[in-house]
Amino acid sequence: MERLITFEGTEGCGKTTQIRMAGEYLGQRRVPFIITAEPGGSALGNRIREILLNRGPYEINAEAELFLFMAARAQHVRETIIPALRSDKLVICDRFSDATLAYQGFGRGLDIDFIRQINLFASASLKPAMTILFDLPAEEGLMRAKKRIAQNGKEASAEDRFEQETLAFHRNIREGYLSLARGEPGRFRIIDGSKDISAVHREVCVHMEAFITG
Ligand code: TMP
Repeated sequence: MERLITFEGTEGCGKTTQIRMAGEYLGQRRVPFIITAEPGGSALGNRIREILLNRGPYEINAEAELFLFMAARAQHVRETIIPALRSDKLVICDRFSDATLAYQGFGRGLDIDFIRQINLFASASLKPAMTILFDLPAEEGLMRAKKRIAQNGKEASAEDRFEQETLAFHRNIREGYLSLARGEPGRFRIIDGSKDISAVHREVCVHMEAFITG
C-alpha cells in the first residue's frame, strides 16, 4: 500500500500545527518521512498557490480554480510525492484530492464525478492510505483562521482568498468532508478539531502508530 497520509479539514481546523507535531513524532520513531502541502510542494505548485490563495487584480472563476489546483497537483505528485514514496519514505500531505472534492465540489458546486475523474488524472491515480480529518464547526474554524491571518502580518494576510468566502460556503465544505468520510470509513479517521492542541495530537499519534505498525 502507498504510504501516503493526508490531513484535511476546514479553515482553522489546526491541521498545519498537527502536521508539524506529527513530524516530530515520526522523527522520534525514526520513520523516514517528508511533509508536503497542497497547493504547493514544487516550484510550480508554489507559484500556483500564490495565484490561488492571494487576492489579485483578476477574477478566478470556479472552473479555472479547479484546473489550477489540478495543475499544481499533477506537478506535485510526479515531482515530489512519487519519488519520496519510491525511496520508501512516508509522505504526509497537508490537503490532497479530498480538498478538491470538498471545496470545488461541495463548496463551489462543481460536478463531483467530474472532479473524481480529473483527480485521478492529476494524481496519477494515487490515493491516500489514511486521511485524518479535523472536524469542527465552520464558525469556530473561520474565527481561528482570521485571527491567525491578523496576527501573522502582511505576508500571511495575503493568503486569505478562501477565508473571505461566506459562512454558508464553509459550512458546505464541512458537510462535504463529513460525507466523503462516511463514504470511505476505512480510510478516514475523524478527530474533533475543537479539542485542545495536545489532546488532538494524542489522537493523531494513536492513528499514526497504528498505521506504521499495522
Ligand atoms: P491551507 O494551506 O490553509 O490549507 O490553504 C489551502 C487553501 O486552498 C484552503 O482554503 C483550501 C483550498 N484548496 C481548495 O480549495 N482545493 C484544493 O484542491 C486544495 C488542495 C486546497
